[in-house]
Amino acid sequence: MKKIVIANWKMHFGVKESLDFLKKFKKMRLPSSVETVIAPSFISLCEVSKFLRGTKIKLGAQNVFWREKGAYTSEVSPKMLKENKVSYVIVGHSESRKWLCETDEEINKKIKVVFKNSLRPILCVGETWQERKRKRTFKIIQKQLRIALRGVDGKKSFVVAYEPVWAIGTGRSAYPDDVIKAHKFIRQVLVRKLGGKKSAKARIIYGGSVDGNNVSSFAKYPEIQGFLVGGASLSVKEFSSIIRACV
Ligand code: PGA
Repeated sequence: MKKIVIANWKMHFGVKESLDFLKKFKKMRLPSSVETVIAPSFISLCEVSKFLRGTKIKLGAQNVFWREKGAYTSEVSPKMLKENKVSYVIVGHSESRKWLCETDEEINKKIKVVFKNSLRPILCVGETWQERKRKRTFKIIQKQLRIALRGVDGKKSFVVAYEPVWAIGTGRSAYPDDVIKAHKFIRQVLVRKLGGKKSAKARIIYGGSVDGNNVSSFAKYPEIQGFLVGGASLSVKEFSSIIRACV
């Protein structure tokens, strides 16, 4: 399966900045053997979608609501995402868990509705620094996966992003050895939950202060099947070098 690199633009780029980035990004000669996804802000989705038409770059959304229709002020439904040709949806990002108080149960509902609408979730899991210090990393990952994937049959492929909370946006990425351990553990949990065949369809990727300089220390391991990139995805040069390192 192709490696996947996802730009998570968070609340950084509006419509103009998104399109300015993409105009430059489109000119870069990048390998087609790496699946590239751009996840802009909701407000930029429509314009970014139009811009990406006819390219190999896929569109991602940063969140979704778990109900499909109705009186839910401020929320965005999976159908609205589909209408804009979204392929992937980030679910359970630690910033949504923290600032929007998203629970594992809500994340589970979102994963289900994403699958139901033939979108692909990018499920984020990872421990905080406190949890790591208390040696609870694997316990936390296991709990997040167990609840998020409750009632999910795993027939469709998806992505799990291991993102230690303390590594996100801090410039302090995790050590590759620790990432490999976490990835192996996630794979075991998926195999137990979905069986070997179905779990093989899930890609496990890493996120947390990945940039053009440190990417190759991760990319050389086959267990790391791609990256979820925040800060470094705001620079055409940095993001392009991350994609190139995945070949
Ligand atoms: P970062 O963000 O690359 O800026 O650490 C990663 C993420 O939040 O997905």
